[in-house]
Amino acid sequence: MNMNKIAYSVFIAFVASLLTLISVSALSSSERDETDDEGLKPITLDELAEHDGAESCWKAIHGRVYDITDYLPNHPTDPTVILEWCGQEATEGWHNKRPGVPHSPRAEGMLEEYLIGRLVDEEGEPVESEAVADASGNANGEADSDHARLSPAGDERLQRALLGLPLDGHYRGVFVDRGVIQVNITFNLEDGHFTRLDYRHLAYRDDDYLAMEEGDELYPVMRQHRQILERLEGEPVTAIFALYEPERLADDIDGYSSATLRGAKIISAIRDALNRGVYSWP
Ligand code: HEM
Repeated sequence: MNMNKIAYSVFIAFVASLLTLISVSALSSSERDETDDEGLKPITLDELAEHDGAESCWKAIHGRVYDITDYLPNHPTDPTVILEWCGQEATEGWHNKRPGVPHSPRAEGMLEEYLIGRLVDEEGEPVESEAVADASGNANGEADSDHARLSPAGDERLQRALLGLPLDGHYRGVFVDRGVIQVNITFNLEDGHFTRLDYRHLAYRDDDYLAMEEGDELYPVMRQHRQILERLEGEPVTAIFALYEPERLADDIDGYSSATLRGAKIISAIRDALNRGVYSWP
């Protein structure tokens, strides 16, 4: 390695350590010791709500209350953007200048200048920003405000997807064997629980189970399959694992034992539906 290369490597290492130092100090300066807040004046949600306009604008962000009346004319947007959060728990707005884009550390630093107190409930207990946002649907108190609609942080569908949980919605799935559909199932998930389970198709070889009537030889088997869906209704999605032992979900009807049931086919169709994802939003 010649001298130039050594000097270059040393320079790069120096820049890298400098950047690390800068980011570590930026991170630690954004952390806050909660005990610092005990000395701040307690301000209730009702008091906060009284300062909801340009003549007096207070906002609560992360449990602290700021009087930003003097700053309003300096904010780099149309005044309505920032005015609509006056008198509110405004943490969500603070973190979503645009959907998913928080304010810069420079803006964060400016807040300190306007600090006037800490947000408390009627009992004088600190109010968590999430708790306020949840209680009112969103921080703005309007279920369909732009902030609630556009904020990825408040998008429950996205959160469930990121956690790998099946989304609530309407599903359809099939079990196919040698190119022939045997089970075609449809259901909704509501809060992760099955509702409105039904077969769109249930057949084996030439027997169409859904067309069977009382008295038909295989009618009891069709009843058992229906029973399974009735018993899954309202259950969490994990209940499908009980189908590996179908006797837990279906009775012995007219001498047809659980052995005639093919619980595995139903599990397969349900899992196919879940893998395909939401078919439509009910
Ligand atoms: C909570 C309600 C607020 C909302 C919805 C909001 C929204 C916005 C928007 C839309 C922009 C311009 C877009 C952009 O730069 O990407 C912006 C920029 C900015 N805002 Fe706010 N703002 C709020 C509160 C505040 C407060 C209380 C302060 C300071 C005391 C502040 C300081 C700034 C600054 C310095 C910028 C320039 C860009 C930056 O550094 O992030 N904002 N804000």
